[in-house]
Amino acid sequence: ESYDMGGHDTYMHKEIAEQADAVDRVLRGRIDDRFATVHLGGLNLDAREARGVRRVKILGCGSAYHAGMIGAQLIEELARIPADAEPASEFRYRNPVVDPDTLYIAVSQSGETYDTLAAVQELKRKGARVLGVVNVVGSAIARETDGGVYVHAGPEVCVVSTKCFTNTAVAFALLALHLGRIRDLSVADGKRIIAGLRALPGQIAEIVADEPRIEKLAAEYAQAASMMFVGRVRGYPVAREASLKLKEVSYIHAEAYPASELKHGPLALIEPAVPTVAVLPDDDLLDKNRATLEEIKARNGTILSLAHGEQEKADHTLVVPRNEPELDPILMGIPLQLFAYHTALALGRDIDKPRNLAKSVTVE
Ligand code: AGP
Repeated sequence: ESYDMGGHDTYMHKEIAEQADAVDRVLRGRIDDRFATVHLGGLNLDAREARGVRRVKILGCGSAYHAGMIGAQLIEELARIPADAEPASEFRYRNPVVDPDTLYIAVSQSGETYDTLAAVQELKRKGARVLGVVNVVGSAIARETDGGVYVHAGPEVCVVSTKCFTNTAVAFALLALHLGRIRDLSVADGKRIIAGLRALPGQIAEIVADEPRIEKLAAEYAQAASMMFVGRVRGYPVAREASLKLKEVSYIHAEAYPASELKHGPLALIEPAVPTVAVLPDDDLLDKNRATLEEIKARNGTILSLAHGEQEKADHTLVVPRNEPELDPILMGIPLQLFAYHTALALGRDIDKPRNLAKSVTVE
């Protein structure tokens, strides 16, 4: 991929459109079918060290932090290591306990974000093992970390991250599979995840082909005063990222909450002028999520749902292809990137350079 616009009007559109190829690239040469695992050449963490990891802490900012939230869930699910993500900007200021049995992972597209770099330097000063999940090869964070996984998304020019977010989530799936297979993930589950990973590029192409429908819906929702994004567990980081995307590029105010938290306060915001985007993977929380949709409808809220099949309670549904449940967050983010893009386009925004934002925040 290059800086050439390739017939697209904006880099954001180009970068959304090229995600099937980008995902293909992050997978290429890494899958080992024989042992149902993946090889990550630059990880610099041998099997004995990986087995000794008791906790994983993922650090990043903005979209990188959201991709890290997906990564933490994948690592807990596939490798059964307790994992969480935290904004690097907060972590570095709270004098965190640095634990020798914790594996720290810094996530960054640019590899130059000052807060993430400063968190890495603080961790290194205190003797921690820090890996990077980074896009730009040879960047400051790539150099400062002990090893890691390159995301191979190619150059991302638009200030708003799209393909790099998706590729970072896939890179975390590879890392989680690798850690899982040297701990207690079965061969059968390893094969299942590999088949799911291989299906991603084709499924991403299907989602992108649904663009005309997303464009029509976005034109309707562009009139909203504010939007609520909800999801639970696997759906929650997707809701967070989609809400950030919409804010950044369309300037529509948006909130993201776990759907389970709605009744603890944010439900007060729901009214016809405040539509809800609900992320509904077909997992064991689907019935609970449907109950949330009923609560929203009871307040006359409009609902756009993202699901694997039409949702009766929603006003509109964007149907996302089924993959393995653990990989749902990777696919579910993509229609909402197109949704943010077309909302911004309908409002005449400066898509590649939203106001007040820089591609990479290299100052405090
Ligand atoms: C993404 O759309 C944003 N522009 C922003 O949140 C970004 O992800 C964040 O500043 C981190 O950047 P990095 O990945 O280059 O570290």
